[in-house]
Amino acid sequence: MATTELVNPFRQGLREDRATRPVQLVIFGASGDLTTRKLLPALYNLVQAELVPENFCVVGFARNEMTDDEYRATLRASVAKSGEVRVRDEHVVDDLAARTRYLSGTFDDAGAFARLRAVLDENDAKYGTDGNRIFYVSTPASLFGIIVEQLHNAGLTGGDGKASEKVRIIVEKPFGRDLASAKALNDEMLRYLGEDQIYRIDHYLGKETVQNILVLRFANGIFEPIWDRNYVDSVQITVAESLGIEGRGAFYEETGVVRDILQNHGMQLISLVGMEPPNSFDARDFRDEKVRVIEAIRPIDVKEAVRGQYGPGFVNGQPVAGYREEPNVSPASMVPTFAALRLFVDNWRWAGVPFYIRSGKRMPKRVTEIAIQFKAAPHLPFRKAQIEQAEGNVLALRIQPDEGVTLKLEAKVPGPSMRIRSVAMDFSYGATFGAEDASPYERLILDCMKGDQTLFDRADGVEAAWALVDPLLQAWDNDKSIAFPNYAAGSWGPKAAEELIQRDGRAWRLP
Ligand SMILES: NC(=O)c1ccc[n+]([C@@H]2O[C@H](COP(=O)([O-])OP(=O)(O)OC[C@H]3O[C@@H](n4cnc5c(N)ncnc54)[C@H](OP(=O)(O)O)[C@@H]3O)[C@@H](O)[C@H]2O)c1
Repeated sequence: MATTELVNPFRQGLREDRATRPVQLVIFGASGDLTTRKLLPALYNLVQAELVPENFCVVGFARNEMTDDEYRATLRASVAKSGEVRVRDEHVVDDLAARTRYLSGTFDDAGAFARLRAVLDENDAKYGTDGNRIFYVSTPASLFGIIVEQLHNAGLTGGDGKASEKVRIIVEKPFGRDLASAKALNDEMLRYLGEDQIYRIDHYLGKETVQNILVLRFANGIFEPIWDRNYVDSVQITVAESLGIEGRGAFYEETGVVRDILQNHGMQLISLVGMEPPNSFDARDFRDEKVRVIEAIRPIDVKEAVRGQYGPGFVNGQPVAGYREEPNVSPASMVPTFAALRLFVDNWRWAGVPFYIRSGKRMPKRVTEIAIQFKAAPHLPFRKAQIEQAEGNVLALRIQPDEGVTLKLEAKVPGPSMRIRSVAMDFSYGATFGAEDASPYERLILDCMKGDQTLFDRADGVEAAWALVDPLLQAWDNDKSIAFPNYAAGSWGPKAAEELIQRDGRAWRLP
């Protein structure tokens, strides 16, 4: 019927940004936290915005026994509950649900993959998806290898020939838990797939504000000439969360802050701030430059690394438990929930410029910020008494929340005398563009549909990041002499983190 045609978002519009190649999306771990909180709402938004191809369908795969209709109800509930869904249109939900199927099975069961293949073949015939498949692996990392092997055994990886162009696989982070396991996982995946089929996700790269670091640096002529050791005093990166571990004790006990944040998100931020201008924004040029920065970071000196674990305290005025009192956490846990590092990028551009990075749970607020502190003016022709407050020039890139950019300048205070104070020039994403940020998963799923790997990690990139943090993780594992907890929930971390930066005559900014 004509009206059905009108409301069918799969058939409407020809958005410039849309993916056009027909495709089936298979989600392994379809009942998990990430799928229900992030992936299904992201898919809904993509469909609603008419960005997915007209020939599109979804297959969920997990252990739970569920019928197609029960899984469709899960999809509806996750769209209904999500704060990330922008416009809720029941026709779109109905349409997406109708195109979604569910299969239950375990990853060690070859029969389940044979059943999956049969469903995919049926869908190809029904939706005209022409053998194009994206497998989104949203399971614990320990299962990535077996899933790829089973896909291969079931003839679903496309083999070596042209058919492999039809198959792409997205894998979640963290990719491995140390250098050896990341290498083993790369080897396992690359046994059955080409690098051009593998999309290793770090959702930070899907954030608008993270991509804006590149636009700010490389689309403006004014920053690049001063973006180096001659003008930059230091770089500070803060990735702070006010939340604790939110019931994910078992996961966090295996992970800790270095594996959860620094090895992936932290290294992405350093590489975007530190990289040389790429020749182009295509996947090879961009990833070549990113990996060079990580490879140039001097091995971490354990004396320049601080670890912390939160004890009880107050966040936003509410009392909260310490890490060791959280469910599924050992009362003697030595897992760090905070880390601060002083790093150096040993290359021509950055020689001698410290990069301070800190990340923690149960901080006073949720904030991710990169601050470029520029060197002071070489000579101040003012009397000391005239300077009321001078922070120097800081370019602060606010990644989340309150996304935007602030440039700190010194200014004359109005009045008859010469008084100087720091002021802020501010750009706010929300106020300027008036658009709500799309979830990074939308951008990344869409890029995968288009075959664009730019915002995904390459094998050498993840391995370089692990090579850097692995010796630190080992040193900390072998040295249990630290007394935890060593910071109160609701504070900015242990005193040693302050001392790390104070030794250089600097202080952490209050982001
Ligand atoms: N949650 C987040 O916010 C978040 C953020 C960033 C990255 N990640 C990454 O995303 C991935 C998924 O995380 P999650 O939090 O969604 O995990 P989760 O809630 O534990 O979900 C895991 C999913 O995998 C399925 N599964 C586990 N073992 C299986 C097996 N042997 N056979 C078949 N299915 C199996 C589970 O199905 P059943 O329940 O049916 O067993 C469930 O659907 C992880 O790699 C994680 O590191 C998650």
